[in-house]
Amino acid sequence: MRENATLIINDQRYELPIVTGSEGEKAIDISQLRSKSGLITLDTGFANTGSCKSTITFMDGEQGILRYRGIPVEQLAEKSSFMETAYLLINGNLPTQKQLTRFSVMLNDNSLVHEDMQQFYQNFPRASHPMLILAAMVNALRSFYPELQTLEEEINITVTRLLSKVRTMAAMSYKISRGHKVVYPRPDLSYCANFLNMMFDSPVNPYQIDELLVDALNIFWILHADHEQNCSTSSVRMVGSGRVNLYAAISSGIAALWGPLHGGANQAVVEMLKTIDSDGGNIQGVIARAKDRSDPFRLMGFGHRVYKTYDPRAKIMKKMCHRVLGRLNRQDPLLDIAMELEEIALKDAYFIDHNLYPNVDFYSGIVLRAMGIPTNMFTVMFAIGRLPGWIAQWKESMDDPEWKLARPRQIYIGPTQKDYVPMNLRENTNSAKN
Ligand code: ACO
Repeated sequence: MRENATLIINDQRYELPIVTGSEGEKAIDISQLRSKSGLITLDTGFANTGSCKSTITFMDGEQGILRYRGIPVEQLAEKSSFMETAYLLINGNLPTQKQLTRFSVMLNDNSLVHEDMQQFYQNFPRASHPMLILAAMVNALRSFYPELQTLEEEINITVTRLLSKVRTMAAMSYKISRGHKVVYPRPDLSYCANFLNMMFDSPVNPYQIDELLVDALNIFWILHADHEQNCSTSSVRMVGSGRVNLYAAISSGIAALWGPLHGGANQAVVEMLKTIDSDGGNIQGVIARAKDRSDPFRLMGFGHRVYKTYDPRAKIMKKMCHRVLGRLNRQDPLLDIAMELEEIALKDAYFIDHNLYPNVDFYSGIVLRAMGIPTNMFTVMFAIGRLPGWIAQWKESMDDPEWKLARPRQIYIGPTQKDYVPMNLRENTNSAKN
């Protein structure tokens, strides 16, 4: 049965269709509202606005559910590999063995980065953040790999190029930043093992692949692979809606992810935990600051726009954190601080009342530290993981018959019309105002 919502504005009634999703979620379709009533809707930060219909990821923030193409993320983390999950997100179904082998061959064939790109790397100032370098280099890929003939080619070849090369480029940026020799990808290694090898292998100290870390990296990347219309994904869709090439759209996603309120939180969490550690473990002081409304400080790794319960990814990450540190037989004081901080916050009335629980970033930094990933590479690790999701969302938007150029409106609250003031009179007018 078709459902409608009735909006009454000054006695005038407007019937607005209700759209229902496959999990029973409902939305009022306001796309015709302005043409019918002259009014727009206002929703700062899009907290209550659906920007598209999507078949990729379902999340329920109240119940802590996350599924990719219908499959719970817990099952994927336990049974799948990152590349199989990437295939699922991008193509809509789990691959057969033959499809997965073909996908792996294509990834291997596209794993090398053009040698000329190394020149670019050498010319960034030494202190450049790896996210800045990655965003710039992904955009630059278009000049090395010009437009392909058809959208199908673009999707098949550009997508595998991106998945494979971004991983190579990330490891390369780390090696170059340390002044070390670049390690090339090896076709005999899996996606995750290859990355760890490119990061840590060196002529003087050959890297021993540790299956536990390969497994941990697979899980880390699966957990980050998609998260529906978050800040960076919406950026990819929005920039992509201007029909810009995929490299530029992904580059915008990387830039958006960098922020500390979004993907940059994993780095911010570890920095916060280190500060607590160096201040002698003053957890209560940090909690008090987070609760103080006159202090802009927030407890990093806590809270989420959608999850109002424990982030399902954080649960898996916490377990993995214990498994990795336990098996490596490594103590990390930051883990002890994180666990104590979590325990105190979860019992605190402020955090309970505000529905603030640990998010995926709370424990992920500790796992990455255990793998030997430097702190300034944490958000790059997130970006590699989110790549399949960005690509899947971009691809869906390109195929969407209802898709439009993204162009929100606004309510203007600036000055009403006033006349231009000649320069010689301006100072008087300005100072009269001051
Ligand atoms: N510490 C303390 N207070 C917080 C926190 C926090 N981490 N997060 C939210 N709050 C409080 C706000 O101060 C506000 O309080 P008030 O209503 O009393 O003024 C209330 O909770 C709601 O905050 P909003 O910013 O409106 O909530 P929103 O849903 O927009 O915020 C966000 C989500 C940005 C993630 C926020 O929780 C935050 O800043 N967290 C810390 C950064 C972080 O961990 N980001 C990673 C998110 S996961 C990801 O992107 C991969």
